Amino acid sequence: MATIAATGIAQDLELVSLARCAGIPSASTHSGLQGMLKTRRQFLALARAAGGVALASGVASRTSLVFGRQAGAASATLHGMEQAQTATLGGTTVNLAGQRQMLNAMTLTRFVDPLPIPAIAPSDGTRPSPGNRKLQLPYYRIEMSEFAAALHRDLAPTRQWGYGGSVPGPTLETRSGQGLLIEWVNKLPRKHFLPVDHTLHGAEADKPEVRTVAHVHGAKAPPESDGYPESWQTPGQSRISYYPNEQDSSTLWYHDHAMGITRLNVFAGLFGAFIIRDPAEQALNLPGGAFDIPIVLYDRTLDREGQLLYPVSAAADAPFVSEFYGNAIVCNGKIFPYLEVQPRRYRFRLLNAANGRYFHLSLTGNRPFHQIGSDLGLLQSPVELRSLVLFPAERGEVIVDFTGLDGQEVQLRNDADDILQFRVLKQEQPQISTEATALPAMLRSIPRTPESQSVRERLLTLSEHDDAAGNSMQMLLNESHWDMPVTENPVLDSTEIWSFVNLAGDAHPVHLHLVRFQVLDRRPFDVFAYNADKSLVYAGPAVAPAANELGWKDTVRADPGMVTRIIVKFEGYAGRYVWHCHLLEHEDNEMMRPYDVILPARVNAGARPASNKKQAWRRTQ
Ligand code: C2O
Ligand code: CU
Repeated sequence: MATIAATGIAQDLELVSLARCAGIPSASTHSGLQGMLKTRRQFLALARAAGGVALASGVASRTSLVFGRQAGAASATLHGMEQAQTATLGGTTVNLAGQRQMLNAMTLTRFVDPLPIPAIAPSDGTRPSPGNRKLQLPYYRIEMSEFAAALHRDLAPTRQWGYGGSVPGPTLETRSGQGLLIEWVNKLPRKHFLPVDHTLHGAEADKPEVRTVAHVHGAKAPPESDGYPESWQTPGQSRISYYPNEQDSSTLWYHDHAMGITRLNVFAGLFGAFIIRDPAEQALNLPGGAFDIPIVLYDRTLDREGQLLYPVSAAADAPFVSEFYGNAIVCNGKIFPYLEVQPRRYRFRLLNAANGRYFHLSLTGNRPFHQIGSDLGLLQSPVELRSLVLFPAERGEVIVDFTGLDGQEVQLRNDADDILQFRVLKQEQPQISTEATALPAMLRSIPRTPESQSVRERLLTLSEHDDAAGNSMQMLLNESHWDMPVTENPVLDSTEIWSFVNLAGDAHPVHLHLVRFQVLDRRPFDVFAYNADKSLVYAGPAVAPAANELGWKDTVRADPGMVTRIIVKFEGYAGRYVWHCHLLEHEDNEMMRPYDVILPARVNAGARPASNKKQAWRRTQ
């Protein structure tokens, strides 16, 4: 017997399902709700106002609502394993056969599971380096597989797909300049357990349903090892990638990147952390070892059986939804975990691995903390903060000081919700430590790249195209589709300014593979004027990036109605890479473009832009 216990939106949605099942004509209920929630944005606004209690519960027979792609069908269903249930509503028992009901994860008991810390991946021997056969490099073999693991003490094990048998997968650890080889082995089933949309580019019905390609986000890797979205592997296949790690200490992460189904593969659990250390950072004596902990944050929607629910639209043959927030906030694989800490300083590497949710993090009591690193390594100096916003794929490394808090509790919050509890232990004996007693005032030098170094500025629009009902149907970069010829083709070792002109109503986190960049500024502009005749009319002064955005970045928040400018040097390798929005639903629906780093010789030869029909890899060096 399932009981109806959810609140707010979840309950309304359940009532729709129940009405349908009880044979109550759904049209009236449905259109009533549809009238109430016309667009994705209104819906999201409502969902956010309701404290993030999310999106949908529903029935496999395509009732219920949420932002569908079909005009006039503001409805969505949650799809997946179907289970027979009965429920009691007003004394009447209703058969919910074939339905799945959403779990209101906010009602789970808080802080009963310890925070898991992903294991460090062990290497499986050595193999010769692709660049120098006499040099042996550490070799790792990482299998992707399906398994079940409980996200909370009171939930049944959840079916997931992970690397190395866990979600997040094992943490890769290496040093700057220490290359390594990873054999990514696809041992997944042949059938996807989440709703594949075959109308999306790259996920057509003639493609294998389960395809994977691992990408190390933030890595400066040769193109053939970067995890190009079309270079996927099917179950039973594997591929060896080479990561030279010729880059500064930083918190990278690896995740799936398969064309048209990245959102599903990552939602299923295919991601993990990848840490690079270096001697300059080690010399700073920051908290290390057991006091240096990655915290991977993501949100999920679950059903009452504790299984993943990925929302779908009302259209059976086009289940894609453009964005959603799950109501279960997961930290390293657990919902509402706790971590016992010593009364001392800790370094936490926060990573937003969510499909579409941004996190607005703070500590209880508005306690200050210091951010010391961003996407690609340390900041120039620590920045004192009381809250930190991380968009999907962004990293924030922070120092939290629990000194003097013996026996107390401090919670990490997302907006108004406590999502992780730190339990400060009582100090048993004075610490013996080589750690610096104060945080260094200077972490490293990050010279600002002068704008005069740029040889080219590219204006690139970000847009969303809605249907008549206001549902977002497709998102584009520079109004271009994935398949169109390559238009971004910077020359190797040259510096460019990329200006993201956001015409859409929401922020998009834009990510470039291969490179690191600096954020120059964000400047409001007149969207109407731009839409009328493509004239860029500024509506106010440029806003400088915040102090914690002044380090090296690989993902930048492009705000609506703003031109966000970055300056980037295309270093490392020539070849084909991608740039895209890191809202995974957007990335899967055309908000991703290939780009080529070209050799200077090709410019002189006056070569035309390369087609994107077949990728051509060029090796350099
Ligand atoms: Cu985090 Cu193109 O990826
Ligand atoms: Cu986007």
